[in-house]
Amino acid sequence: MKLQLLIVFVLSLDKFPEKCHSTTESGKVLSITASTPERVDILRNISSQFETVLWQPASPFHIMANSEVHLYVPRESVLTVTELLESNQLTHSLMVENTEELIEIQTRNDSSDPRTSVAYYERYHSLEDIYFWINKTTTDYANIVRLLLIGSSFEKRPLYVLKLSGKASNTPKKAIWIDCGIHAREWISPAFCLWFVDHCIKYYNESRDVTEMMDSMDIYVLPVLNPDGYRYTWTTKRMWRKNRSIHSNSGCVGVDLNRNFDANWCTSGASSNPCDDTYCGQYPESEPEAQAVANFLRSHKNTVQLYFSIHSYSQMLLFPYSCTHEQARNHDELYELVRDAAADIKRYYQNNYKYGPGSKTIYLAPGGSDDWAYNLGIDYSFTFELQDRGHYGFLLPPRLIAKACKEGLMAVKSISLKVIRKP
Ligand code: ARG
Ligand code: ZN
Repeated sequence: MKLQLLIVFVLSLDKFPEKCHSTTESGKVLSITASTPERVDILRNISSQFETVLWQPASPFHIMANSEVHLYVPRESVLTVTELLESNQLTHSLMVENTEELIEIQTRNDSSDPRTSVAYYERYHSLEDIYFWINKTTTDYANIVRLLLIGSSFEKRPLYVLKLSGKASNTPKKAIWIDCGIHAREWISPAFCLWFVDHCIKYYNESRDVTEMMDSMDIYVLPVLNPDGYRYTWTTKRMWRKNRSIHSNSGCVGVDLNRNFDANWCTSGASSNPCDDTYCGQYPESEPEAQAVANFLRSHKNTVQLYFSIHSYSQMLLFPYSCTHEQARNHDELYELVRDAAADIKRYYQNNYKYGPGSKTIYLAPGGSDDWAYNLGIDYSFTFELQDRGHYGFLLPPRLIAKACKEGLMAVKSISLKVIRKP
């Protein structure tokens, strides 16, 4: 009853439409490569000026010689930036011609009525719609889905977790945790969580794998870990990554929630500057969103056996550590799990995913949720980077949602079932 009231309250809070971007975000995304250390420095400089936004890597610090950098450049700065690139012999090509056009396609036709059309899961949804979907799904499928409130965001939006359970067992069940949308602009991620829940509901008692997964383990799904940031990408700034917290010590807003966990917190690979996209926050778990997840996992650490955090983009299946170059205690086992999952994706969907420990596969990035969960004792901890590999980047068109989700689903199933079936 109380929960229902809360949902109604939240829905009315979020009444005004999220579609109209107050700023037009028309610009281009360039793919740039620096071939010498001097050029790397110049590119780092460019990427922190002219209102540009780094898509890949997440911070200027991670820009390296001879590896591709994806940079959003607003229309007004395109000429200046291209001239600078040319005069400094920075090789570049056009990745996205017109961001506004792709944003329009991503936000088009957003119906607030879930499940009336089969295409619901092949579209992106505003935060308001996702709250509506959560309410409806937990009401309609009360026999297998339960609604949990694990905390609230900086702007006081509820953090809901859906708990999926198959048939009860007499031994205490282990559990799987999946979170989506820790980074605001990675829209395919919340879309994956919705897809995943729908798939579990549809195929429970239909598909052997889904049934086995749900009968052996409870599955906790947090569809939007960073609701304030997600909403902000719909209303104001499509390229936003962090949450929306305000700090007394700076005029800049937001903390990178995937740098805010207590795993070599704020060491090399995170930023202590509140204005940066990888700002680690004032202290570990300073952010209510990170704290809510950490509290939940701490209190369920004896049951949660598998942890998945869903991101985009770059097509990677990662495991600890990202916060150090040290090897995880069960490195070989984790390596085999992601290697096999990548092979499954390749076989069924003809798509290539890289795999390995985060620090070696992408970059050193301390304070991540996966490393923290792993150190808590969750032996099977993963971060997935879904599609694509840098064609549309964060602006993946709706027609590609299905394939991206199927690939992620394949990896979750492949890994989970192997852990479940372990002798
Ligand atoms: N792209 C992700 C990030 O920058 C990578 C996450 C890998 N895991 C980690 N703990 N950093 O946050
Ligand atoms: Zn991310």
